[in-house]
Amino acid sequence: MADPSLTLERLFRDAIVAAFGPEQGAVDPLLRPSQFADYQVNAALGLAKVLERPPRQVAEQILAGLPLGGAIASAEIAGPGFINVVLSNEFLSGAVRDVAESGNLGLEPTANPDVVVIDYSSPNVAKEMHVGHLRSTIIGDAIARVLEARGHRVIRQNHFGDWGTPFGMLIEHLLDGGAEAAEHSVSDLNAFYRAARAKFDSDPQFAERSRQRVVLLQSGDPGTLQMWQQLVQASQAYFERIYALLGVGLRGEHNAGESIYNPRLAGVVAALTEQGLAVEDDGAMCVFPPGFKGRDDKPLPLIIRKKDGGYGYATTDLAAVRYRTVELGGTRLIYVLGSPQSQHLQMVFSAAALAGWLAPPARAEHVAFGSVLGADGKMFKTRDGEVVRLVDLLDDAVRRAKSVVHEKNPELSEDEQAQIARIVGIGAVKYADLSSDRIKDYVFDYDRMLAFEGNTAPYLQYAHARCRSILRKAEVELPSASAAHIETPEERALALALLSFPSVVAAVEDSLEPHRLCGYLFALATTFSTFFQSCPVLKANSPAERDSRLVLTDLTARTLSAGLGLLGIVAPDRM
Ligand code: ARG
Repeated sequence: MADPSLTLERLFRDAIVAAFGPEQGAVDPLLRPSQFADYQVNAALGLAKVLERPPRQVAEQILAGLPLGGAIASAEIAGPGFINVVLSNEFLSGAVRDVAESGNLGLEPTANPDVVVIDYSSPNVAKEMHVGHLRSTIIGDAIARVLEARGHRVIRQNHFGDWGTPFGMLIEHLLDGGAEAAEHSVSDLNAFYRAARAKFDSDPQFAERSRQRVVLLQSGDPGTLQMWQQLVQASQAYFERIYALLGVGLRGEHNAGESIYNPRLAGVVAALTEQGLAVEDDGAMCVFPPGFKGRDDKPLPLIIRKKDGGYGYATTDLAAVRYRTVELGGTRLIYVLGSPQSQHLQMVFSAAALAGWLAPPARAEHVAFGSVLGADGKMFKTRDGEVVRLVDLLDDAVRRAKSVVHEKNPELSEDEQAQIARIVGIGAVKYADLSSDRIKDYVFDYDRMLAFEGNTAPYLQYAHARCRSILRKAEVELPSASAAHIETPEERALALALLSFPSVVAAVEDSLEPHRLCGYLFALATTFSTFFQSCPVLKANSPAERDSRLVLTDLTARTLSAGLGLLGIVAPDRM
């Protein structure tokens, strides 16, 4: 792999073994970025404790076994026993050439591919998607792309809420709500759901009919199922429009709504009962996964069959785990879902493990995220306290982007401006979500996300477009990768940034934290900017220097575009 930090780690590990024997072969050299050198190696400090020797002496012994003159230009001990390492220009140049030539930016497929089953978006039928679903959709899409880029097999599952008691009232409302209800059921889910709810709460007869309708639905009455299907399909079409607007790769083939588990629920309860894991509690069947306690310190139940014989959210999720590992062959199950559902998921994972449906190497992870807040620091809502409709929000972002794009690019045609505004507006919304540590809440702020300064999508998209513009203005064919010669400090800094792309992608693959990739891309763009200010490309001192810098510029453009692509964000060539 081209990443110099991997070469360094190997060289240092060898030096540690040479100095202290093979029993220290597993020691992590602890490579860190450094202000004073290219990297700082901190291993001597920990080793000193283990070996009970002064750290600087340990550092000296490591240095003694380190080959100089190849990758490493110099290595010096600093402070209590850090080792500051400077790479050689030849090594950096060679690494840049390899990556520029490779066509995959140094991204090698993993040696241990997983079958990843990722549950994301998962909105509820006949209900408007809210900003929580937006977060799940954006984060899930980015994670799926990163894992695919690392060579894992990724199976997307849109776990729609398409089953349950509300469908009784929704179907009854569709039946007697007239043209308006029919129209709302496809275009204004908030209004549709609200009207059904209001009738249910105020009209006892309607409520009774709704309850009977639930029974009909559960017993598979064909007419009722047909109405239900109609509602599900209308919502799915509605959600698919949002996915298309967002540029998210969720399609019909990824639909795996709760209803697909209906035929499997009784089997789940039977299996858990047989294994002695489910017990009766006040008429309901429950699993009590160990370690989960309520406020009263009593064990918390996972209710798998209600007193009335019905199944709920937990049963469905247990059936889903079983399906995903046993039937789909999943080894890494990922759930992109807000933090409030953390306990539910942990209990499901624990019960599934007890039942043997989640056994190593298979494992499950909750990719939790915080809330989206309004400017007032409270939950993001419309002025009258309603759930914000995603379509409105995205339209708004694109509209605002249009005026920004118009201001910056008055010379572009109306059509081009509209196209770029779409890319910038949607990119801004996605990036604002992805760039903050997902577990934290963040404030939804159009002005900030659409700014051309700071850690934003427009800044990165613009940085990419600027690289492309430089390459266009060069009016020469892109020089071959062998032209790369890294010399000045700014070229070195840019080279180091470019070469660390694969490690950053690998870090996201492990941590499932897309903000790390955002932070990296932002740093890369600012590093390029510094490079460009002090290292003229088109007006370089010699053709050789110009060619080398063109290779760096092209590699920067490709890395920005690929990195944004992994986040599901498009990088236009002009803006
Ligand atoms: N439909 C649920 C909701 O809107 C999310 C489902 C998430 N996935 C799952 N397997 N529980 O809250």
